Amino acid sequence: VIGYFNGRWVDPAEPCVPLDERGHQFGDGVYEVIRAYGGRPFLLDWHVERLFQSMEALSIRPPFHPDECQSLIHELLQRSGESEAAIYLQVTRGSAVRNHLFPESSVKANVSGTVRPVPAGQAPHAPGRLLLLPDERWFNPWIKSLNLLPNVLAKQTAHDAGADEALLVRDGCMIEAASSNVWFVLHGELVTAPADRYILAGITRRFVLDLARDLGIPVREAKLPRDRLAEVDAIFLTGTLTEVYPVGSVVEHPDIPCEPVSAERPRVVPVSPSDV
Ligand code: PDD
Repeated sequence: VIGYFNGRWVDPAEPCVPLDERGHQFGDGVYEVIRAYGGRPFLLDWHVERLFQSMEALSIRPPFHPDECQSLIHELLQRSGESEAAIYLQVTRGSAVRNHLFPESSVKANVSGTVRPVPAGQAPHAPGRLLLLPDERWFNPWIKSLNLLPNVLAKQTAHDAGADEALLVRDGCMIEAASSNVWFVLHGELVTAPADRYILAGITRRFVLDLARDLGIPVREAKLPRDRLAEVDAIFLTGTLTEVYPVGSVVEHPDIPCEPVSAERPRVVPVSPSDV
């Protein structure tokens, strides 16, 4: 596993990022995960394009030109020696003494990255199980920002309930999963949520949309209400690491209604001293 920080090749397990760093302190940054197949980063142009959109959305001054970004990703992969790999690239607003306000313009964005091997051709051995949960994210999930706490908590809740992914419900509709996009087969059409501000417009989603259109499969970008689940013929997820992942069942949590979100503070399960 190889690591990169601001022009240096580093051991990802060793500390090298300043403590006063906006990615650490505020989640003030953006990222991409790119899959390499056979030593080639897949859909690289689209990932770089989205990284620049994310930076623009947060007014982070790009520390490189898109071509330099592509070269860096190629170099990361090449140095790692991996051919089946997940490349993680992160850009934060930079290092400065903690202050909510943006630092002065002389502060440059920090760029970091890692590459880790992904075993090739590992098809899921069984269709996945999804847990319906309320979408507790903010109003801008379209930005691929580092702030993933609601996604992390939803995914863990799903895992703890014996499911593979969380299926997030916002305004009564099943719009996205915790780290992947969701698709439904409904009355002969493929249905996936529109790429508005409430979902991340996945690169794999875009690729599958193109594939479906090329194959003449009817596609509708629409939000599917949760109460229409019974009409659905099939469900799958898409994502860079998820690839195309078949879903076998959708379940509800016994204690967490997927909507509406109650104003009451949720009950917190204390960590027992024996877990510490
Ligand atoms: N996640 N939706 C969310 C919330 C995601 O985090 C991701 C990807 C996707 C799929 O997007 P794409 O096809 O561009 O990977 C949808 C990445 C892989 C991650 O955070 O690890």
